[in-house]
Amino acid sequence: MLNVQCSMKETDLIIIGAGPGGYRAAEYAAKQGLKVVIFEGAEVGGTCLNVGCIPTKTYVHSASFADARERMAQVVPQLRQGVEGILSNPNITLVREKGMFTDDHTVSGYTAPYIIVATGSSSKLIPVPGIDSPKVVDSTGLLNLDTLPGRLCIIGAGVIGMEFASVFRRFGAEVTVIEFLKECLPALDSDIAKRLRKQMEKEGIAFNLQCGVKQIADGEVFFENKKGQTESVEADVILVATGRKPNVSADFSNAGFDYDERKGIAVDENFQTTVPGIYAIGDVNGKQMLAHAAEMQGIHVVNRILGKQDNIRFEVMPAAIFTSPEAACVGPSEDQLKEAGTPFECHKSFYRANGKALAMGETEGMVKLCTEPGEGRILSAHIFGAHAADLVQEVTAYITLGATLQQLRETVHIHPTLSEVLIGVN
Ligand code: NAI
Repeated sequence: MLNVQCSMKETDLIIIGAGPGGYRAAEYAAKQGLKVVIFEGAEVGGTCLNVGCIPTKTYVHSASFADARERMAQVVPQLRQGVEGILSNPNITLVREKGMFTDDHTVSGYTAPYIIVATGSSSKLIPVPGIDSPKVVDSTGLLNLDTLPGRLCIIGAGVIGMEFASVFRRFGAEVTVIEFLKECLPALDSDIAKRLRKQMEKEGIAFNLQCGVKQIADGEVFFENKKGQTESVEADVILVATGRKPNVSADFSNAGFDYDERKGIAVDENFQTTVPGIYAIGDVNGKQMLAHAAEMQGIHVVNRILGKQDNIRFEVMPAAIFTSPEAACVGPSEDQLKEAGTPFECHKSFYRANGKALAMGETEGMVKLCTEPGEGRILSAHIFGAHAADLVQEVTAYITLGATLQQLRETVHIHPTLSEVLIGVN
């Protein structure tokens, strides 16, 4: 017992997981003078850098499948090296193993007054017969394919399903999507989601909405359509994109905080678990499964540890879907505002009236801004069209600072840019 205590190494902060939540928190804490030990059992950079946001965006910006494979093999290691550089700060010790809790202050031989769990999430598979067929892959499996599948069937028209449908269609695959709900991208404004789907249908992607997958037999996916009839699609590869589940682990019970296999680690508004001093950030707390949400949560937690006040507004969380064209949003959708009984008005404008969009040949697109009545404070933005993410980012700044539509209109916008679509709202 005595020997165990003597070999224990003390530090200020332990972080489990070196994805965007964990490594950014480590970087920020180390810059503030904290001694940090960060555990990572796989490659640094997490899902986002290795098998998520970065590889998929490399695909989106490549001309062909072969080009995408080649570029991914260059971009990912380069960025990983950048993260290794960040973690080489003298205040940071990177331990290349899976960190395991032995008690509420101890992880794999290190002890600290504060611990951040940032273990991320993994693909959630659906419990249907044949899900273990060799033709079924998750997003990581799809990114690891050496050859472009002739026929790709995608189960789930959420963010992952739609991004891969868009890019694999552009590479020349025949793409069929099967979705449970009556529209794609349930979290997006339904008007924008419908326009995006219609555009993707024009590009040749087949959508089967309100359809539930029943069985997979070799390369054939059997599903029940909205009339209750059984249909099937044959495919060379089947992507399951039906959501992600938090990465929880049995050793969490040694720390004593509440967690659940499905919902992840329970946290309060400051991302503290039910055990004081232990925090959970990013996908593992199941709040907002986005890399940038994880990063900001980590910074907020480090500020709390240091006793520093910040004003990060977690309810103003922009998100983008990198389909072609893009879709992006910040704040509640029109449907959500109606449901909540919030008084609002809706302002729209279209890319086809914008000079830069015409010059770029990107005339398909729409901006929808919801504001308080009387062109008051901006509540949300939902955009579909080229560079939607960048336009939403601009509106995110206005919303964060409590600006009105009039203040947006009075902000000088460079001509000719796509951002002029914002000031063009009716
Ligand atoms: P998701 O939750 O966005 O979508 C899953 C979809 O699958 C839903 O539309 C759901 O109705 C459908 N579904 C579920 N079970 C089904 C079944 N049995 N048959 C047919 N359809 C079924 O999940 P997704 O796309 O897997 O993404 C996981 C997480 O990763 C999300 O939280 C997402 O925000 C995040 N992510 C974000 C990205 C971004 O911000 N650009 C990119 C990729 C992932």
